[in-house]
Amino acid sequence: MHPLIKEVILSKEKIDERTKIVAKQVTEHYRSQKIGDEPIVLVGFLKGCVPFMGNFLENFELNCQTEYMLISSYGSNIKSSGKPEILLDLRIPIENRHILIVEDIIDTGITLDFMVNYFRMQNPKSVKIITMLDKVTAHKVDIKADWKCFDVEDQFLVGMGLDVNERFRNLPYVAVVDVEKLATWKW
Ligand code: IMP
Ligand code: MG
Repeated sequence: MHPLIKEVILSKEKIDERTKIVAKQVTEHYRSQKIGDEPIVLVGFLKGCVPFMGNFLENFELNCQTEYMLISSYGSNIKSSGKPEILLDLRIPIENRHILIVEDIIDTGITLDFMVNYFRMQNPKSVKIITMLDKVTAHKVDIKADWKCFDVEDQFLVGMGLDVNERFRNLPYVAVVDVEKLATWKW
């Protein structure tokens, strides 16, 4: 294991198992809304959403289309700049569409809050949120995921799409970074 990895907190098996369960709940929700064949617009924020989006898609049973946006809210470091900026926008109109945001992790919640408001201004039929991880004690705004796989502590995590300095996104598990080592780490 890489020396910057302190502890694995979620194995691939655990994530897969839980994603299956939650994807079923999401499927049931939209089924109960009787939206018919209308494709749900799944929106992922690059780059962190990719592994979880893949995992979720495998288990989501309804008609959907996948769209991606690029939002910057973090610098290259482990602290949020708190000012989300849309670097790559949607290229479809979302008026009257059902939007499901597929997020990797909620930390301060600032990015999601900003994005939910941004979508709402465009008059979609609904905006829902599913997140793989939720740092509940780190929220700085009042935002709640409609579905989540795991609550996690307020620690800096990598793997399953999460990075530090663009590394570790490909780890097939979620792990805690050794922030003491990171402070003086030479890449
Ligand atoms: P928020 O706006 O503070 O909620 O941060 C949202 C984004 O910051 C997430 O979608 C991630 O891309 C990134 N982020 C938050 N916490 C972590 C972490 O522990 N590791 C890696 N990226 C994170
Ligand atoms: Mg993200």
